[in-house]
Amino acid sequence: MTRSRSEYRRTSLTTRTPLHYGITAVAAHTVDREVLATLLLDAYRGTIDDEGEDHDDALAAIDHYLGTIIPEHSVVLFEGDRAVALSFVVVVDGVHYIDPVTTAASHKGRGLGTAAVMESLRSLAAADVHIVGATITDGNTPSERLFTSLGFTRVGRWGTSAE
Ligand SMILES: CC(C)(COP(=O)(O)OP(=O)(O)OC[C@H]1O[C@@H](n2cnc3c(N)ncnc32)[C@H](O)[C@@H]1OP(=O)(O)O)[C@@H](O)C(=O)NCCC(=O)NCCS
Repeated sequence: MTRSRSEYRRTSLTTRTPLHYGITAVAAHTVDREVLATLLLDAYRGTIDDEGEDHDDALAAIDHYLGTIIPEHSVVLFEGDRAVALSFVVVVDGVHYIDPVTTAASHKGRGLGTAAVMESLRSLAAADVHIVGATITDGNTPSERLFTSLGFTRVGRWGTSAE
């Protein structure tokens, strides 16, 4: 199946409610790669972006992310000792992007994806980075809603000139 992706940007400094009760934020690079891979696989399973990846695929993806993310802006949210959401930040062509944000299947719809991205946005703002992008597979409604509710607007199709 051919999927298209769109690019979104956020330039405002609007902030929303921070972390939920009982949720703590931890720097991504301090979290075990197996824990991150389990969260990634669980979050994507059954979604529009699920391509049938297995745990080894998820581990390879996490190893790639750990080599490319900006550590100080990339966070993992824990509920107790369980990793429940993450927001990673990468730089592409000089622009900071949230890529990816994921929430454990059992914890979706509780605001944790939003809270994770807010943590990254807060950290980016503190570093004077106010233009932040995201690329979203068209039809990924939860992700589209998450980012638009945080002030991101669609600027065009990813990888092409705006349209
Ligand atoms: C996208 C994702 C991170 C959202 O995480 P979440 O913790 O459930 O998000 P939140 O609870 O903070 O909700 C964010 C918004 O999405 C909406 N939303 C959440 N789940 C939804 C669903 N199944 N259908 C429609 N909207 C949904 C919420 O209502 C909220 O919108 P609002 O602020 O307008 O009310 C999660 O669905 C996920 O991990 N998906 C797989 C990975 C992925 O696609 N990541 C995005 C890559 S760019």
